[in-house]
Amino acid sequence: MKFFVDTADVDAIAELNALGMVDGVTTNPSLIMKSGRDILEVTKEICEMVDGPVSAEVVATEADDMIAEGRKLAKIADNIAVKVPLTWAGLKACKTLSDEGNMVNVTLCFSANQALLAAKAGATFISPFIGRLDDLNLDGLDLIEDIRTIYDNYDFETQILAASIRTANHMSEVAKIGADVATAPPSVIKNMANHVLTDKGLDAFLQDWAKTGQKIL
Ligand code: G3P
Repeated sequence: MKFFVDTADVDAIAELNALGMVDGVTTNPSLIMKSGRDILEVTKEICEMVDGPVSAEVVATEADDMIAEGRKLAKIADNIAVKVPLTWAGLKACKTLSDEGNMVNVTLCFSANQALLAAKAGATFISPFIGRLDDLNLDGLDLIEDIRTIYDNYDFETQILAASIRTANHMSEVAKIGADVATAPPSVIKNMANHVLTDKGLDAFLQDWAKTGQKIL
């Protein structure tokens, strides 16, 4: 499973990138707002840091305007994936932008039917939002499973990009289901390293080591 980082914070991306943890980056208008940076400037900087796809989202709501914004965003770098919302207009923009050779990430997906339409419209990535379904007492992981089944049934090439990931547990669950990509905030990716038994075991080792009076360096 590929790891995308869901942030526009360049320092956080750099830290994970140095460990080989970054196969791509996803941003959205809320993350750009949080970064306090200009969208074109920060996206260009991220594209230069990371080899994989960097999603940059349109904000227009009509197809023609989305296409115009998407073309402008795609000019930032070769590794831009234009992100469009899963509306009828977004699907039209997806078809045009992908026919023009751009990577397209269709976002705000909350149903298997929406994912089916995105694949038909030539999406490179479909972004089902797990956490926001869980927030409503629905099961975001069920959605990933349904989309996996449908895409496999018909050999759709659209990659499932599990998004709105809130916990380390979400990461292993979507990996078990077979999501192609998971995008998560840096804090969630770092949290995957934590285990209470690791901390407890390390404490015991260090206490015993102190008793030996030895040093390695
Ligand atoms: O990848 C989509 C993500 O940015 C949304 O996450 O936590 O706001 O639902 P969240």
